[in-house]
Amino acid sequence: MEVRLIGDPVLRKRAKKVENFDDNLKDVIDEMFSTMYLYDGVGLAAPQVGISLRFFIMDSREENEKGKKVVINPEIIEFLGEEVSFEEGCLSIPDIFEDVVRPEGVRVRYQDLSGNVIEEELHGYQARIFQHETDHLEGILFTDKLSIVKKARLKKELNQLIEKGKKRAWELGETVKT
Ligand code: NI
Repeated sequence: MEVRLIGDPVLRKRAKKVENFDDNLKDVIDEMFSTMYLYDGVGLAAPQVGISLRFFIMDSREENEKGKKVVINPEIIEFLGEEVSFEEGCLSIPDIFEDVVRPEGVRVRYQDLSGNVIEEELHGYQARIFQHETDHLEGILFTDKLSIVKKARLKKELNQLIEKGKKRAWELGETVKT
């Protein structure tokens, strides 16, 4: 399973709703967890592995796997608390880490692997990951949210990554499965 880089068009598409909660989806999610842990990530969205569907996995690495989630067809119902600045990175934008401002908490609704609807309130790191990953399903990357000054500073580095990502996208194509 390959992680797509910024510059790959699949990362800029609005992903489609998941309709089939089947074994294939389970297998893909298992493989996504292995990939995420391999690269030491805390979240991985389906478009990042070439699948334009609305789901992601996350693990905020808390005790008893409390922050480990499979999130399908997510919605952010409400933003909670103050806007906070926190450093983010992304497996699709390697080696770039920048502070991003987002609300501290979110009330969310999503489905689990069995299709059950879950509604909960998340705060802190979990809320941060949830927002970052939900953005991926809309084709939004964290670097889009940086100030003009920061974007200008990163321009050269980002453009190099985008060229690499475009080339790789050409080689891989879109994973249509699931
Ligand atoms: Ni990301």
